[in-house]
Amino acid sequence: MSKNVRHFLDLNDISGETLKAILSHAHALKKQKFNPPQIFQGLSLAMVFDKRSTRTRMSFEVAMKQLGGHTIVMNMEEMQIGGAESIEDTANVVSGFVDAVMVRMSDHDKLCEFASYTSIPVINGLTDHSHPCQIMADLMTIEEKLGSVGGKKIAWFGDYNNVTRTFVQAAPIWGFDLAISCPKDLQPDNVNNDNVAFVNDASQAAQGADVIVTDTWTSMGQEGKNIDKFMPHQVNAGLMAKAKDNAIFMHCMPIHQNEEVTDDVLASPACVIYDEAENRLHAQKAILAWCLEEAGVLVQDSFDFEAE
Ligand code: CP
Ligand code: NVA
Repeated sequence: MSKNVRHFLDLNDISGETLKAILSHAHALKKQKFNPPQIFQGLSLAMVFDKRSTRTRMSFEVAMKQLGGHTIVMNMEEMQIGGAESIEDTANVVSGFVDAVMVRMSDHDKLCEFASYTSIPVINGLTDHSHPCQIMADLMTIEEKLGSVGGKKIAWFGDYNNVTRTFVQAAPIWGFDLAISCPKDLQPDNVNNDNVAFVNDASQAAQGADVIVTDTWTSMGQEGKNIDKFMPHQVNAGLMAKAKDNAIFMHCMPIHQNEEVTDDVLASPACVIYDEAENRLHAQKAILAWCLEEAGVLVQDSFDFEAE
């Protein structure tokens, strides 16, 4: 990985102290929603996608622009990298044009390879391996709704995917317990994490939980797969009733209606998915601020990561 460049590729690569500081900066920036500090003036972010996106694309674009910066959005299929151009050449060329780049692509190793060649920060906007920006917004939402994340019980249901994997990374950093209810054949055998438990009975996984969370059973690129085996892990009103009275329901979205979660849960007061989606914006601002600060770019205001 390039020296002295602050990439945001996986939560595991970054110290817990830094991640918590980024999160408190996100809360502070949310409070400045209507008076955003113009700290990204003169800075540009490129966004490169080889998959669909609504929240990630919009939140990064609005985050840069509200703080005075610029964005350029590229579809990987239309870039030369989608043809014959090498990852190394693309990384070097992009580094000459913009100050940071966010990439959404399937292959996490290729993303890391790309980052190893750039002289600018690279942000993981979702790979098949992980989705760190999403989990920053999710943890921010839990802090907002429940006061803190440490010591809470988060119960995950359904697929074991990029979002689950990032929750697994986050659990020891923030000190929450993560109960995972997913089909047995998807349970990895390499999770040596005292904060994480695989619970085969969904009701038991939900018992006493502060947060119930799920994601689609069909991640992008897996279209057409058989989803029958996920049914015992569906989030429905009966499952929510096992959680604490003040438990919240979260989902990174997009939702596949009446598959991973039923409409009654989505319509209930426990459902905080739209606040969770909005928090992508505030979390993105803080992630960008951290990445750009170390890139040697002079930002107008100094970053005070202390909680307010
Ligand atoms: N949650 C999320 O990453 O949404 P998008 O796919 O719309 O960006
Ligand atoms: N697991 C989902 C997340 C979408 C934001 C996917 O990869 O499609």
